[in-house]
Amino acid sequence: MSYSLLVVCYIAASALFILSLGGLSKQETARRGNLNGIIGMVLAIVVTAVGTNLAGAANVSGTGFAVLAASIIPGALIGAFLASRVAMTSMPELVAMLHSFVGLAAVLVGIASYISPTEHLTGTEHTIHAIEIFIGVFVGAITFTGSIIAFLKLKGSIGGKPLLLPGRHLLNLLMVLGSCFLGYLFLFGAPADGLTWLLVMTGIACVIGVHMVMAIGGADMPVVVSMLNSYSGWAASAAGFMLSNDLLIVTGALVGSSGAILSYIMCEAMNRSFISVIMGGFGSDGGAPAAGGGQPIEGEITEISADETVELLRDAKSVIVVPGYGMAVAQAQHTVSEIAKHLRSKRVKFRFAIHPVAGRLPGHMNVLLAEANVPYDIVLEMEEINEDFPETDVVLVIGANDIVNPSAEDDPSSPIAGMPVLQVWKSGTVIVMKRGRGTGYAGVENPLFFKENTRMLYGDAKKTVDGLLGKLRE
Ligand code: TAP
Repeated sequence: MSYSLLVVCYIAASALFILSLGGLSKQETARRGNLNGIIGMVLAIVVTAVGTNLAGAANVSGTGFAVLAASIIPGALIGAFLASRVAMTSMPELVAMLHSFVGLAAVLVGIASYISPTEHLTGTEHTIHAIEIFIGVFVGAITFTGSIIAFLKLKGSIGGKPLLLPGRHLLNLLMVLGSCFLGYLFLFGAPADGLTWLLVMTGIACVIGVHMVMAIGGADMPVVVSMLNSYSGWAASAAGFMLSNDLLIVTGALVGSSGAILSYIMCEAMNRSFISVIMGGFGSDGGAPAAGGGQPIEGEITEISADETVELLRDAKSVIVVPGYGMAVAQAQHTVSEIAKHLRSKRVKFRFAIHPVAGRLPGHMNVLLAEANVPYDIVLEMEEINEDFPETDVVLVIGANDIVNPSAEDDPSSPIAGMPVLQVWKSGTVIVMKRGRGTGYAGVENPLFFKENTRMLYGDAKKTVDGLLGKLRE
């Protein structure tokens, strides 16, 4: 393959990745966006494999292809098997795990290109390449261990409670300064010791990754996942510099910058500064277990039956559904969509209110509702619908908890204080469907359940909405 054809293909793949990101920003175009990404990635892999094997290494191309096939085919099969089996609610765990692979790849590429450089550079070029290696390995190692801890936290193997070591900021600072000093030795010290400094820094960066994510509380995990997404992009970009691969540089930069933008959006949604999230401790009430935070709750819990709920829905002129993680677990979206269809046919103003961090991954609820063929125009974001609750007769909160917790607004001592929430309590009647007294992801008690206009409809969300739909149709 000629170099110019390689460049043309790389530009085409980059364009497809940009189109992919553009498409993924809207539900209507998400499928096409995904397809563009797949085509771009296949093109990138094929062209890189063919280009690398034919350029300069023609005599070993057969071996090169065999090695590539031996690593890509089992990897692709394992990836496809795991991805097809993963439940939507476990998607963030999978994503966190995949980020750790990118981090590990950047570390391995960095160390390999230091031990066995493909091109022998001198002077300034050599220094620049050494800096690329050092930074790439540093970011890659943080991404690697940070993502593993995020995976274990999301899976529940490690509790959501943040680990707040005394003087943790100082510890982080010392580790970063230590890495900078090792970088100085790596660049300007005796070349024979270079590998030692690189490996010591890798160890320190691994500890930074673990410590940074361990210090982040349960409620901040959405930001952590998108932050690690961004890190993995920068790690890939650094690997692109090490390998002099323009497409990897561009792709990594796209992932890195889009992940950074997503982290910023998440922080806005949680009303947090990005720095305070990275520093850790949010969702912990200053170090106490999250469930312990907040003022004591007054009032009593009032239950409601399915029959009474149906009566309220029949009399309502406007209804808003707030879906949450529990709806995803119960897979209740299809029945909820049928309820929406039924009530809309009875001229009820029926809408869905989506909180930016509802569920367990960005856009989780939008994906579920799209899958259940809910029309996009009745699915509204928090800022579009929050003012409409006072004019709403009935709100159905289906498997949601943290995102409708009023203590975020009126209890400064609450671990989730300051996080914008859906103000469902301002409506006529709020019906909360959940299985029992379980808390949400942040582990915080919810005063909404004790309010006078709140009714609890206990049970698995799928069974509950199936029952409601049956009765509505009678
Ligand atoms: P949560 O606050 O996690 O509350 C979900 C509720 O669903 C629980 O209280 C649980 O109560 C109930 N539930 C569980 N299974 C159920 C079932 N089968 N049927 C009925 N109810 C069920 O969810 P949310 O309100 O969607 O808030 C999301 C939380 O996750 C936020 O704290 C957010 O920060 C965090 N988070 C979000 C993301 C992203 S990016 N979206 C990523 C990671 C973490 P019972 O046990 O009593 O049934």
